[in-house]
Parts: sequence; C-alpha cells; structure tokens
Amino acid sequence: MNILVIGSGGREHSLVWKIAQSDLTDSLYVAPGNGGMGELAICVELNISDHDDVVKFCIDKNINFVVIGPEAPLVDGLSDRLIKENITTFGPSSAAAILEGSKGFTKDLCAKYNIPTAAYGRFKDASAAKKFVAEKGTPIVIKADGLAAGKGVIIAENMDQANEAIDDILGGQFGEAGAELVVEEFLLGEEASFFVLTDGENILPFGTAQDHKRVGEGDTGPNTGGMGAYSPAPVMDKAMIDRTINEIIMPTVKGMKAEGRPFKGVLFAGLMITNKGPELIEYNVRFGDPECQTLMMRLQSDIVPALMACANGNIDKVGVSWTDDVALSVVMAANGYPGNYEKNSEIKNLDQAGAADNIIIFHAGTKKRDSTILSVGGRVLNITARASSVKEAQNNAYEALDKINWPQGFCRRDIGWRAVEREEN
Ligand code: AMP
Ligand code: GLY
Repeated sequence: MNILVIGSGGREHSLVWKIAQSDLTDSLYVAPGNGGMGELAICVELNISDHDDVVKFCIDKNINFVVIGPEAPLVDGLSDRLIKENITTFGPSSAAAILEGSKGFTKDLCAKYNIPTAAYGRFKDASAAKKFVAEKGTPIVIKADGLAAGKGVIIAENMDQANEAIDDILGGQFGEAGAELVVEEFLLGEEASFFVLTDGENILPFGTAQDHKRVGEGDTGPNTGGMGAYSPAPVMDKAMIDRTINEIIMPTVKGMKAEGRPFKGVLFAGLMITNKGPELIEYNVRFGDPECQTLMMRLQSDIVPALMACANGNIDKVGVSWTDDVALSVVMAANGYPGNYEKNSEIKNLDQAGAADNIIIFHAGTKKRDSTILSVGGRVLNITARASSVKEAQNNAYEALDKINWPQGFCRRDIGWRAVEREEN
C-alpha cells in the first residue's frame, strides 16, 4: 500500500517511524515532513492547504491511504475532500473536527449528553462575559472559542486579569478564533490525556499520557505546545479508564453520531482528574504532540490496520498490544520559545545521541541541508526513551540529550517529575 502522512512535527515523525515498520507499507510519503524523516519516507513539498494539490499528488502516486496529523487541515475539510475522491483517510471530517475547532460546541455537547466538564458560559459580548465572571468569582478560565495554537486559554487569578483576557480575546488578539469565548469554572486536580481510536460507533482505547505544557521547570511560566510527556499516565488506572470511557468517551461518540457528525479518527480527551472523578477539559481531534511520540514508542502492534479501521468502520475487529515499559519524551526547543526565537542554527551529534536501542530522537522543527541538521521551529527535537520505570526512562532521555551539541536550544530538566515522585513513594 502507498501511504501519505500529512504534517511536519515530532508527532508525524513518530507516526512515520511506526508506519514505516508495517508490512502493509510499500511507498511512504510525508508532506511536508522535516529534517529527521528522510530515511523513513519521501518528503514532498505539498501545500497542504491546497486540497486540489494534495488530491493530485495522491492520484499521481497511487496513494491508497492518507494519515492526517495536525488539526488545522482536519478542521479545514481535507479529510472530507480525500474521502470524496475515494482515498481512504485517517482523520475526522470537518463536521466532527468541530470538537477541537469550537470549544463552545464541545461544551454544549457535554451539557446535552451529560458529560462531566466545568460549568461554563459562551459569550460574544464583553460586558455579558464580565458580568458572568463577577458572579462566578476567580480563579476562572477564559478561552477563545476557535483554534489558537494552544495559546487561547487564560487562567485568570483575579478580576483584572479576567477582564483583560475578555477584552483581548474579543478585541481580536486571536483573530476569528476569538470572535466568541467560553468562560469556565477552574477545575482542581491532576491532568491526564486519554486517547481512543474510533470509527464513529465503537472505540479502541489507545493509551494514556501526561504532558508538561508550561515552559518552565516545576510547571511554571507560559503555556507551550508541550515540553515533554510520558506514557502511561499513572493516575489513569483501570478504574479511571473505565469511568472515562463510560462517562465521557462513549457519550461523546454516541452524541456525535446522533448530531449527524460521526467522529472517525483519534479522539484525544484532555482530562482533569478531580476529587469527583474524570472531567473533560477539552477534546483534540488528533494525536497529542509530544504524547504521540511516547505512544508510538510503546505500541508493539502494526499501527496501519488500527488507523485504517477508523476509516473503514471495523475498529471493533482490531486489537493492539503495548509494551509494559514506560516511554518518556523530552522536548528541546529553540532559546526564546514560546516567544521569539532564532532559526537556522546547526544541531550536531544527533547520531551519537540517538545510538542506544531504547532511544529515538524524533525531529520536529528541523530541516536537513546536505548532511547538516538545522533548527527551523520553536519545538525542535523530542528525545524519547523507553525503560521499565519513569525514573530510568527519564535518566536515559537526559543522558542522550546531553550528548546533543546545540547551544541555541534548551529543555526542561524535570519531565516526568510527578510520576517519578509517585514511583518513589
Ligand atoms: P486547553 O487548551 O483547553 O487544554 O487548556 C490548556 C490548559 O489550560 C489545560 O491543559 C489546563 O492546564 C488548563 N485549563 C483549561 N481549562 C481548565 C479548567 N477549566 N480548569 C483548570 N485548568 C484548565
Ligand atoms: N501536547 C498537547 C497537545 O498536543 O495538544
């Protein structure tokens, strides 16, 4: 089978790495790809927002299966278009991708189908939003409704911050994504990510993870796309997974079907494990990045049949197996990220750093020029380790990372701290 993966991040590198191992894979392409994928797949310069171009490429290369990594092309309808052209595609329709594309839609769905989530209000008008905040008190969470690259959520500690966030969002800070906002109650607890593959009807649980969203050690400083992750999430034991499936996931899958928006793909639930149980913070309609890298390190089965089953409606016929090992991934980012950062610095010694069996260095914002790897993004490398404990995976990841010679990059030194503490107690 000829397969095309859409995307260029560490998530897509790990998907390509896993898909390349499948016996079902003949030719493997990635658009646009990055500096780390060239040995696994053919990187192609496609403008993925030009759907005609993507279709033309698929027809030219006789592509049988397309795997869409990021959310933007899904919300944009790339999956719908490819399916219309009879190309099997992993990734939900635009109508279903609204679960990530509109936070207000998801909150209303939760209300309608009795899915536990923070109490909320939806607003287009600043004074009504401010009145709601004044009634609810702080801390409170203010969110732009649409896609804002992970930056559209403000946790306001006091009224001034809340009012400022409301004015900023409705004032156009996030463009169209902020034409409407959601104000919601602040939930207290431990965050975890839960993934399921679904064909719109049935589900296949696909692992748990925890990530570190803040840029600074001790989970401080501004939010990022994620500075590191590990899988599984110790807080997601069997009982918590069962509750999450029964109380959150299945009502969503059934609800989306009933709404005429069947969801086919990977459903990524961002959860807060509160003292009442799991509550939904948000849905993403794609794999997490860097959570995906840790899932791919732990997945033993062929991933291709599982991804295809989401499209083909037979996820109930697919089983997957996982290693009992833990996987942990540390992000190296360009100095300055998530603010301004320099591009085009050279990264050296990657081969030696990634030489051990239990280490894979997934690339994110890199490009290859001749035999040189250059940084071209904010999050640049994902040093991913597998071991029998979080502590050991953490040690192995940092040992590998310290061999990389890239003075223009930095990382957090405490990825996995909460799980390590739990192991030690
Ligand atoms: P989101 O993009 O909706 O996942 O929000 C980004 C981050 O903000 C989450 O990972 C949480 O850390 C935090 N957050 C979002 N909503 C809430 C909430 N209702 N209560 C507490 N923290 C939240
Ligand atoms: N790491 C969080 C996300 O992918 O949304």
